[in-house]
Amino acid sequence: MEFSSRVERIGGEGAEAWAIHEQALAAQARGEDVRVLSVGDPDLATPAPIVERAQQALADGDTHYTPGLGEHELRCAVARRFAAQSGQTVGAEHVGIVSGAQNGLFFTSMLLLGPGDEALMLCPAYVTYEATIAASGATPVIVDMPAANGFRPEPEAIEAAITPRTRALFLTTPNNPTGAVLGPDELEAIADIARRHDLWIVSDEVYGELVFDGRHHSIAALPGMAERTVTVSSLSKSHAMTGWRSGWLIAPPALIAHAENLALCSLYGLPGFVQKAACTAIDRADELIAEHRDIFRQRRDHVVGRLDAIETLRVLRPEAGMFTMIDVRGTGLSSTEFAWHLLEHQRVSVLDGAAFGRSASGYVRLSYTLDEDRLDEACERIAAFCRTIDSTAREESPHV
Ligand SMILES: Cc1ncc(COP(=O)(O)O)c(C=O)c1O
Repeated sequence: MEFSSRVERIGGEGAEAWAIHEQALAAQARGEDVRVLSVGDPDLATPAPIVERAQQALADGDTHYTPGLGEHELRCAVARRFAAQSGQTVGAEHVGIVSGAQNGLFFTSMLLLGPGDEALMLCPAYVTYEATIAASGATPVIVDMPAANGFRPEPEAIEAAITPRTRALFLTTPNNPTGAVLGPDELEAIADIARRHDLWIVSDEVYGELVFDGRHHSIAALPGMAERTVTVSSLSKSHAMTGWRSGWLIAPPALIAHAENLALCSLYGLPGFVQKAACTAIDRADELIAEHRDIFRQRRDHVVGRLDAIETLRVLRPEAGMFTMIDVRGTGLSSTEFAWHLLEHQRVSVLDGAAFGRSASGYVRLSYTLDEDRLDEACERIAAFCRTIDSTAREESPHV
């Protein structure tokens, strides 16, 4: 039996990037002592008031169908927080509740793109973007943010990639994997291009509440941008709620109306008890997530300090999020070799940067999603691994 041509478009490198993570989990399940630093799932518990709100809603019998694109109360809560943070006038009619930011990206791709269209993605980018764009029938076009420029966007490169078929540009701020937070000038340069070429911007801001240095900015808040921007976010990272699958898109009401139709033939609404808990999560966000942000900041400082002391590695200091990029070129290994050999010899899993785009080749992404003691131990194992590469290299070539 044959499948749709879509199955080819949703496979590929992004899906393959997880192989190392899956092997690490399999080894852990066999009882091996693996340090899994290959996924962006906070190890922290969802704050108790959120869990209690869900339990209460379940006890109250909130177990039935809900509106396809989210309950009014939650749409209002999302709108209020985004309005407060971005200074925009946003109401429930601008908000759609979806099953995590990933589902929001998929909705957006389906609603903006189709066969014959091109969508630019600023790379390094989250590994699912390529398939998410391709699933619509559109062609993903990679615009590199070079390592030599700190993985920051280059407006000339964006402009050069635009063709008459270009309909949208996908960006991530704060970025996964680099932790770069785009500043007002960088966002204005991108907004200027979008206005001149009449492009949609899809802005993935899932790490927006986890900024350590400086502050988060939304491109939708710039003049003339709200009407051409879809902002996607969720509670997954900030609130340690990846499994709750609670996310949203914020967009012009006309797009939300189409999203409502798409929800009716796909998602069919999130569970009511999850949405009640999500309301608590958003309404009490300042109080509930400050501790998470502090923990990740401390871990960032700790891990960057430890790894920077290793002679053959160069560590990027992320401004936000839960990942750090490590330049492993000084070890003489490719990032693919480094990641696989590290898992094999020291039982630490990290992701090959190349999975996020060719500009991140030579780097690996390490998630600081373990407590400090276990992170310390993982850093120790990485140091030991680097020493063995050094001595192997010296044995092979006395001149190294
Ligand atoms: C940049 C980025 N966007 C989206 C997602 C998906 O998040 P969610 O759990 O909200 O679907 C992730 C998860 O790692 C991510 O890193």
